Amino acid sequence: MIQVKPITSFTGFHLEQFGVFTHPSVKPFPVSPYEERYRAVYHAGGDRYYKREPNTSLHQFLSTSQIASGNVAVLGCGEGRNISLFASSQWAVFGLDLSPSALHRAYQDYRDFAMVKFICADVTKEVPDRLVGKLDLVIAIGLVHMLTDQRDRMNLYAIVMMMLKPGGYFFLESNGDLNADTAEILAGGKIEMRTIQTPVGEKQIPLVRLQTVMLNGQTMRNELEQSGLQVVSMDSGTFRHPDTPRKQIVVVSRR
Ligand SMILES: C[S@@+](CC[C@H](N)C(=O)[O-])C[C@H]1O[C@@H](n2cnc3c(N)ncnc32)[C@H](O)[C@@H]1O
Repeated sequence: MIQVKPITSFTGFHLEQFGVFTHPSVKPFPVSPYEERYRAVYHAGGDRYYKREPNTSLHQFLSTSQIASGNVAVLGCGEGRNISLFASSQWAVFGLDLSPSALHRAYQDYRDFAMVKFICADVTKEVPDRLVGKLDLVIAIGLVHMLTDQRDRMNLYAIVMMMLKPGGYFFLESNGDLNADTAEILAGGKIEMRTIQTPVGEKQIPLVRLQTVMLNGQTMRNELEQSGLQVVSMDSGTFRHPDTPRKQIVVVSRR
C-alpha cells in the first residue's frame, strides 16, 4: 500500500481575501487544469461553473444514514455546492480543493459560518495534520474520475484512510460504469461548449475537455480494498448528464 506521510506541522498561511488556508506546497504555477477551467469561467462573466444545488445522491445518503453530526471533509469541493448539506447543522466542515479560484467562490458563501473551513491542497499529496484521524465522514463528488493516474487514486485512498476515524465513512461519486469489463481513459483537449452560471442566467462558453477516467466497478473495488477500505455498497447513480451517461456511487467504511 502507498504510504502518505502526514504534514506534522501544518504551517499553511491564511489568504485574507480568500479565507482559505493554503499549504505552502501548492504553488501558483503551473496552475492545475481545473483552476484554468474555473478562471476561464469567471473570465467569461460566470459567477459559478456549477449550479448551487447540492449533489442528489449525497443528499439521499445523508437523509437515510445514521450519521448526523461530527467532522466532515469534502475533497475536491470546488465552489462548495455540497457544503450546504452540512453548513447549518451539527457538523464541522472542511472543504479542500486544488483550485484557489473555486475556493474563493465557496468562501464567499460560507464566510459567516465559523464551523466551515477551506483548505487549498492537493488531496493526492498532502493531509493537514489537524485532519488525521479526526473525520467521521469524507466526501468526494466528481473527484476520482479526474485522477487518471492510478497512483493518485491510491494516494487519495491512503489519505482518506488516515483522515477517517475507525468506523468512519467515505462517500464517493464518480463518472464510470460499474458493469464495464475495464476502466477507460477519456481523452481531453477537445474544445466543447459547456454551460456556466452567470448573474443573469445560464450561458454557453467554449472550454477545453479535461482528461478523465471511467472506472469500472471491479477496478474501483480492488483499489479501495487494497487501500484497506471496506466497500459497503456500490450503486449506479441517478443523475444523468448527456456527456457522462453513467455515474457510480460508492460507500466505503474504515475498519
Ligand atoms: C468535477 S469537479 C467537482 C466539484 C465539486 N465536487 C462539485 O460537485 O461541484 C472536480 C473538483 O476536484 C478538484 N480537484 C481535482 N484534482 C484535485 C486534487 N488532486 N486535489 C484537490 N482537488 C482536486 C478540482 O479543482 C475540481 O474543483
